[in-house]
Amino acid sequence: MRTMTKIGNRVLATNIFLAPLSGISDLAFRLICRQHGAGMCFFEMISSNALVRGHKKTLEILKTNKKDAPIAAQLLGNDSGLMLEAALKLTELANVEFIDINAACPVKKVIKNRQGAYLLREPQILFGILRKLSGNLKVPVTVKMRIGFDRFDEKEIVDIARRIHSNGASVLFVHGRCASEGYKNKVDYLAIRKIKENVGIPVFASGDILSASLAEKMFRETSCDGVLVARGALGNPWIFSEIEKGLSPKISPEEKIRAAKRHLDYIEKYKTASSSAKLGIMKKTALWYSKGFPAAREIRRRISAASSPAGIFEILNLSGLYFPENPSR
Ligand SMILES: Cc1cc2nc3c(=O)[nH]c(=O)nc-3n(C[C@H](O)[C@H](O)[C@H](O)COP(=O)(O)O)c2cc1C
Repeated sequence: MRTMTKIGNRVLATNIFLAPLSGISDLAFRLICRQHGAGMCFFEMISSNALVRGHKKTLEILKTNKKDAPIAAQLLGNDSGLMLEAALKLTELANVEFIDINAACPVKKVIKNRQGAYLLREPQILFGILRKLSGNLKVPVTVKMRIGFDRFDEKEIVDIARRIHSNGASVLFVHGRCASEGYKNKVDYLAIRKIKENVGIPVFASGDILSASLAEKMFRETSCDGVLVARGALGNPWIFSEIEKGLSPKISPEEKIRAAKRHLDYIEKYKTASSSAKLGIMKKTALWYSKGFPAAREIRRRISAASSPAGIFEILNLSGLYFPENPSR
C-alpha cells in the first residue's frame, strides 16, 4: 500500500502520514511515531494570527530536531494577507515540505471565528487564501477539509474540491465526515470516493484509520492516494509499520511498556510546560498505552493518581507483573 507521494514540486517517500492533531502531535509524539514507521508528520495546527503575533506557545509548536523530518505545517485562519504573513514566517522558522490550510476543524470557537470548517460555508474565502499562498510561497499548499459542513452534497462538495485544485492546492486531505457530525457517525467512504474521482490532485483520506485492516478498507473503498493516521496512533505508534506491511501482529506487553516509557522520556525532555501540566500530559499518554493491559482498570487508576513522573514510570514497570506471560517478574 505504501507508495511515494508527489506534492507540487516535492516527492515524499510515503503516502501514510501522521495527521495534524492539535494538542497531541508534538515533538515527543512525532518522534515515537517516526520510530515505528511514520514517514511523514504534521506539526500541531498553528493559528496564523498567533504566529504573526509571535505567541510563545505557538512558537513552541514549531519545536523540532534533525530526526523529526520530513514535516508539514497546518495553518488556521481566514484572512489571506495574514495567512501569507504567517506562512512566510513559518517557512523561515521551519523546513516544511508543504503548508496545509485547515478547512476541517469543527470546534465551536473556531467556527464562530469563521475559520476551520467554516471555510466550506464560504469557500470564496478559502479560494482567496489558496491563490494568495500558492502564488507567493515556494512550498506547495494543500487543504484539509470535511465532506461538507452540515451535510454531504455531492455536487456542491465536488465543485468546492475542484476549485480548491484550480486555485492552487497540490493535495486534498479529506476527513470523511461533515463538520456538524464531529466524530459521531461512521466515515462516509463513498463521499471520499466521489471527491477522489472528480479532482486532478492526490486525495488523502482520513477517518477511522484505527488499524491496518481499516486502512486497507479506506484504500479499497475510496481509491484514495494516501491516508492520514490520527486517533489510531494514540498509544499505538506501531500502526504505521502495520499499515505499510498490511499486518497487525500482536504487540507484546513488554514492547508496549518500553514504548510508553520512551514516549514519557521524550515528553520530559522536549515539552516546555509547567511541571503540573507536564505531569498531566504524561498521565494522559501513559493511559493510552495501558489500553488492553490485564488489570487495566487498576493500572489506570494508579496512573491517574500518580503525583510525579517517577510515579508513572514505577506503575508502568510494575504493570509488567500483571502479565501472565511474565510469571517470574
Ligand atoms: C485530538 C484531536 C485533534 C485534532 N486536531 C486537528 C487539527 O489540528 N487539524 C486537523 O485538520 N484535524 C485535526 N484533527 C482531526 C484528525 O486529523 C483526523 O482527521 C480525524 O481525527 C479523523 O481521523 P480518525 O478517525 O482516524 O481519528 C484532530 C483530531 C483529534 C482527535
